Parts: sequence; structure tokens; C-alpha cells
Amino acid sequence: MPTERPSYAERRGRAAAALAERGLAALLVSPGADLAYLTGYRVFTSERLTCLVLDRDGGATLVCPELEAARASAAAPDLGRVTWRETDEPHAIAASLVRSDGDIAVADQMWAAFVLKLQTALAGRAFSPASAVMRPLRERKDAHEREALRAASEAADRTYARILQRPFAGRTEREVGADLGTFLREEGHDEIGFTIVASGPNGASPHHETGERRIERGDTVVLDFGGGREGYRSDITRTVHVGGVIEAEPGRVHDVVRRAQEAGYKAARRGASAESVDAAARTVIDDAGYGKFFIHRVGHGIGLDGHEHPYLVHGNAQRLEAGMAFSIEPGVYLPGRFGVRIEDIALIEDDGSVRPLNRADHSFAIVT
Ligand code: CO
Ligand code: CO
Repeated sequence: MPTERPSYAERRGRAAAALAERGLAALLVSPGADLAYLTGYRVFTSERLTCLVLDRDGGATLVCPELEAARASAAAPDLGRVTWRETDEPHAIAASLVRSDGDIAVADQMWAAFVLKLQTALAGRAFSPASAVMRPLRERKDAHEREALRAASEAADRTYARILQRPFAGRTEREVGADLGTFLREEGHDEIGFTIVASGPNGASPHHETGERRIERGDTVVLDFGGGREGYRSDITRTVHVGGVIEAEPGRVHDVVRRAQEAGYKAARRGASAESVDAAARTVIDDAGYGKFFIHRVGHGIGLDGHEHPYLVHGNAQRLEAGMAFSIEPGVYLPGRFGVRIEDIALIEDDGSVRPLNRADHSFAIVT
């Protein structure tokens, strides 16, 4: 069900208030998740400067190349705009829109080529990463974002259900990965992010690059895939077995990882620390003797970026809050042999409880 268009002006108002609180003059935002969050404008980054200048007095102007003006206007009709032509110097234009005194917050993901020119154009002002301002806004998802994430996760769930019906043995990882991409699109994604198919020993590399290995009966296969739907990301992992006879150790490891994930869910609630979710899952894996093979944090936030705050990792004492969405994805990776990972996206509800956005079955599914 489509939800109402979020109030981008309201989001910009909150960002401007955060600038004022910190004594910053302005926020400079290039294409990426911050720009999408503040304006609804989703556009690729190129060598031509596109930059939102949000002054702490609330003034917001998008500096954009003339050839993209129509697109920007369609995506963000309520936003002031200054267009520049091919022979103009856009950094100076952006700098001229900073009216308040003080330092500059610049989007974490802005290209260095732009940052350096903007620093020259705004000489005398210090630059700092915009995440100090943007992170508290973006990590607590509003109703529109929660709905968007739910819809993306459900599409990923349906994709998983469909891949279980496809043959694995005798096909290459790349062929299975292509199916995942096709299904994600058919289920409503407008962007394919990644389709990891890590079979047999390749499963021991968490970010294995899907390749030409031909999948065999008896393989354990890690499937980790996701993409974007109207800007919001999906990310799900399930581990399947090719053929009906599961050997003792893959079966045991899968059970351990599944229990670790359940422990992560039990720990995740409003007020719990991000690191406590990691610890809860890790304890299960440690106790089973596989601790040194769980080689990554248990989870990451998700929203307009596939990986964003909060990170569920040892050392992050940040408290979980309503509206936070993140993965819970323990794994065990046995070099040269196989890997197992189970990943869901979960959301902290207003009542403080955790809600799984992925509901696809967690069991060690048998495929053919
Ligand atoms: Co993943
Ligand atoms: Co993930």
C-alpha cells in the first residue's frame, strides 16, 4: 500500500535545527541517501556537481546542472533550485548560497573532488561530516520509511520462496544469481544491489563474488541478496542444502547459527545496547565452539543505504530506539569447507519490541 509522500520540508527543518544547535552554518549534500532523505531526489553521482545547500536559517536550494533540472524538479517540486550551465563554476554558486556564519557540514559520501573545490570556495570555514546531523534523523525511521522497508523485505522473502523452486545442482552460481536478480525485479525492486551465491567452499567467504563454480549435490549454499525499492533497501540471507542428505557438521552449524539468530532477536528491544545483540548471538556460537569462525559483527542498520547506523557490534553501547531498522545476521565460516549465515531485517516498534521484517523460513531448506 503506498503511503503518503513524506514531508521533505519538515525533514529539512529538523536538519536545519540540528545545524543551529551545533552552531554550523550549512549542510552541503551531494547525490546519495542524505539527499534522497532531505528532498526525495534520487540521482546518480557524476562529475557534474549536484548539491543541496541547506542553510541553518532554513533556506534550502538545490544547485544542479541545467540538463538535469527537469528531473530534479519532477522529484522535488517544492525545492528551490539554481541551475548551472556547462561553462559555469558550480562550486562558487553553491558557496554563495551559504548565508549564515560558521562551519560547514558536508555529506559523508560526497566525492573528494567536490569537497576540495567547495573548501576552496568557502575558505576559512572548517568542514565536518554531515553524519553528526543526519545520523539521528535517519536512524529513527518514520512511518513512511518503515512501510517502505517492510515492502522491500517482503519482496526479498518472495524471491527466496521462488529460488527454492529452481534447480541448483549442475548450474553455476552466476546462473542462480541471475534468477535472484530477475525475481527481485519481478517482486517489485527497481534496483538489484547484490546477489551472493556462495556454494560449497565459497560459502566460507562472507562477501563471496558470485562466479562460475558449478553447484554440486551435497553443497551448502549461502544466498545473500537484496536491492532497492523506491530507495529503501532489502537484505536477506538464507543457507540451503543441495540434495536430501545433510552431513552432520553442516547440519550442526546451521542449527547453531539459527539459535544464534534467535538469541539476537531476544536481545533486541528498545533500550538494549547495540553491542548486546551482537554479544547474545556470539555467545551461542562461542558456546558451540565456532566462535573464531564468526568473523563479522552481527548486524548493520538499513534504510536508504544498505549499511548505515546503527551498527550492532562490540564496542557500540548506543541504545536501540523505536524506528531503528537493522540486520541480525550471525554466520559461521569454515575455510575450505562451507559457510552458513542467516539474516533478517528487524525493526524496533513503538512499543519497544522487535519485529522481523523478513519472515521467510529459517530452516536448512533442501533444494534440488
Ligand atoms: Co546480506
Ligand atoms: Co546485511
